[in-house]
Amino acid sequence: MSPERWPVLVTRRLPKPAMDAIAERCEITLWPEETAIPRDRLLADVAGKVGAVTLLTDMVDDELLDAAGGQLVIVANYAVGFDNIDLAACTRHGVLASNTPEVLTETTADTAWALMMAAARRVPEGDRFLRKRIPWVWGPEMMLGQDVHHKTLGIVGFGRIGHALARRAKGFGMKVIYYDVYRPTPELEQELEAEYRELDDLLAEADFVSLHVNLTEETHHLINAERLRRMKPTAVLVNSSRGPVIDEAALAEALRDGEIFAAGLDVFEKEPEVHPLLLELENAVVIPHLGSATVDTRIAMGLLAAENLIAALEGRRPPTLLNPDAWEARSRGTA
Ligand code: GLV
Ligand code: GLV
Repeated sequence: MSPERWPVLVTRRLPKPAMDAIAERCEITLWPEETAIPRDRLLADVAGKVGAVTLLTDMVDDELLDAAGGQLVIVANYAVGFDNIDLAACTRHGVLASNTPEVLTETTADTAWALMMAAARRVPEGDRFLRKRIPWVWGPEMMLGQDVHHKTLGIVGFGRIGHALARRAKGFGMKVIYYDVYRPTPELEQELEAEYRELDDLLAEADFVSLHVNLTEETHHLINAERLRRMKPTAVLVNSSRGPVIDEAALAEALRDGEIFAAGLDVFEKEPEVHPLLLELENAVVIPHLGSATVDTRIAMGLLAAENLIAALEGRRPPTLLNPDAWEARSRGTA
């Protein structure tokens, strides 16, 4: 492949350092709008490209890989989550896929922490209240929330972000319990002072439940009406992973009926839609998928996506490759 000016598609404008890094080596086709690229445009623009930088709003499946034609080497997803990518389809097409782990771990843990605090202490509700300009006076029982410090935090999905949350919890004197299908090493469990629980036991015991799983068939609606009923009426549920991990209609009803105290949500089942009932409820704190949304982290994600893209185009293994099978097949020359 020619070493200069590879034709690539970038489906949304990334922070400038990332755009510059890509532009140095590539001829960029860019969707320039502040909306997700429409599907027909995506399929048209990916044709003939050797690389694509995609967002979590772009479905990468057989249809897209067919539309790309045979030249496509890599799809570099600008996200740690990759439920928008059919990895098996990428591997079948001999296309590498990468994500942006690690660079956003601490920032996303901060977001989960912010949602936890905001929901427990009713911060957005208090803000909305004052903006109504209704006369008020300090009162012993006004807008009471739940303590966070020294409570029990249940972390569902104990990967990098879950670990980062556990580290924060230590500073608040919290007890940490976790559930995951993968167990960390005993050393890590000890360092994080985290105890394993079965999911249903965790839900019954935790004062705060924060979700950090990937979205898969197994985690779709992991939190459903029945599991919400296992939680304490004083509990707060936080989701900064993927919306469909929660049955959102069931959650809205549980919040309305006081089955749990509050929820802090960064992600939604039918994003960008938010269940209308959630928008009516004071005890639902909702923000528009801002998990990794800081200046520094979005630059770091962009640079990592660019690094994956250019590594693949130079014939090097992308640093955060998701489908090693495709890499091995390419190296053997069988893809
Ligand atoms: C954002 O949700 C991501 O997966 O990076
Ligand atoms: C993401 O980086 C995770 O593994 O939690």
